[in-house]
Amino acid sequence: VALTQDELKRVAAYKAVEFVESGMVLGLGTGSTAKYAVDRIGELIQQGKLHNIVGIPTSKKTHDQAISLGIPLSDLDTHPVLDLAIDGADEVDPCLNLVKGRGGSLLREKMVEGACRRFVVIVDESKMVKWLGGSGLAMPVEIVPFCWKFTAERLQGLFGEYGCVAKLRTFGENCEPFVTDNANYVVDLYFEKEIRDLKWASDSILRLAGVVEHGMFLDMATTVIVAGELGVTVINK
Ligand code: A5P
Repeated sequence: VALTQDELKRVAAYKAVEFVESGMVLGLGTGSTAKYAVDRIGELIQQGKLHNIVGIPTSKKTHDQAISLGIPLSDLDTHPVLDLAIDGADEVDPCLNLVKGRGGSLLREKMVEGACRRFVVIVDESKMVKWLGGSGLAMPVEIVPFCWKFTAERLQGLFGEYGCVAKLRTFGENCEPFVTDNANYVVDLYFEKEIRDLKWASDSILRLAGVVEHGMFLDMATTVIVAGELGVTVINK
């Protein structure tokens, strides 16, 4: 029987939790795949199979989930170096560069995952793409609310030759702006053409005043675990 996408997410998450050892400081990811990993870590702590774990959550949502599971939590101020982080991704390219943040939590994710010795990404096979943005879905950028239209237009203008369209992320019937855990907005960038020079794209976005962070995670993943119909593949950088 074919596994559902949700079951594949759980398979990838459980595989990643096999890398967790007692005493570790752990980055706890955000999203529907990472949720399975956090649940599993909580379960192993409750069963007494893992102890002395310290979790650093990457969003308010994961913070609340971890508290409900009894996972002891801390922050980057207290633990500036983490042993391991486990998180999902929206896209993974052949060089293990990622798009993250379609769930809205990219800034805290990037801070926590940038401070890890090992960053394990968990995905089902639908997330594997030839190029970032290649699934036709959004590349999120977190921006300050102040004059957001101005910043969105400048972002779109940066990538004019790539057929870029920038859209403010909204929610609900009244199209209220989506607000991040850090009280910022998100602009989603859609590309028609591949951007080959991702370093240039990253630097250009970050140079714009008004931008806080973007969802390209370049050269950060050390391992990607892909769950697919034919089984689980562990890709190491
Ligand atoms: C959270 O904002 C994101 O970065 C998630 O890590 C990413 O969107 C993957 O989420 P899913 O596992 O729900 O697809």
